Amino acid sequence: MIIKTFKTAEEIGVAVAEIFTKQVKNKPDSVLGLATGATPIPTYNNIIKNFNEGDFSFKAVKTYNLDEYCNLPKEDKNSYYTFMHKQLFDSLDILEENVHFLDGNAADTEAECKRYDDEINAAGGIDIQLLGIGNNAHIGFNEPADEFTNGSFKITLTQSTIDANKIYFDENPMPTHALTMGIKQIMSAKQIILIATGPKKAEAIKNMIEGPVTPQVPASILQEHDDVLIFLDEDAASLLTK
Ligand code: F6R
Repeated sequence: MIIKTFKTAEEIGVAVAEIFTKQVKNKPDSVLGLATGATPIPTYNNIIKNFNEGDFSFKAVKTYNLDEYCNLPKEDKNSYYTFMHKQLFDSLDILEENVHFLDGNAADTEAECKRYDDEINAAGGIDIQLLGIGNNAHIGFNEPADEFTNGSFKITLTQSTIDANKIYFDENPMPTHALTMGIKQIMSAKQIILIATGPKKAEAIKNMIEGPVTPQVPASILQEHDDVLIFLDEDAASLLTK
């Protein structure tokens, strides 16, 4: 793991956007694994800025998002489909047929998860996987568990995750289930970039970096990947002792 600490979330956004920009310039048909939530927004803003200022295209890029809520129409303002279009895709020249999500409303969730994993593998696997981290150290929606997960699957969200995300659901209750890429699928990405900002992430970051590798701290598995960049602001890094 290479750990980089910055003063602000905005500086992290500039630095991570630069990595994605270089990736797409060097490999125009890159396969990108993307995350939602508050954390990647500065990165997405800066990718858009670079796109508007640069001479490169996302037309051949494929994206795969980490997760999607169940029982939420994709047109809902809180679906990750809507989030990604609003925060990133609508401002790029990426093709709609190249952006991919798990369908949280699929009748047969097992078949849907298999379809998604097969598609990622058929695309040649993910070149760079962007991750945030939950207050409980989840990645994607892989909540603390007894075993590390494999491919995509349906998860029951923990109270910690519901408490962290329910602020976005002002009218309707937050979904209690989601489909998410599994840990093994995330770990098969060629490079992984995890961003954590703010004091609420400090304990998860300490456990992820300095604790044992355990499914009770899902992000700790990243210690076993050989190309991981961790971007932290000073608050998220504040409990690290090394
Ligand atoms: C989102 C995702 C989650 C978030 C995590 C942090 O696609 O997979 O693991 O990255 O819950 O969320 P924020 O960034 O809102 O603190």
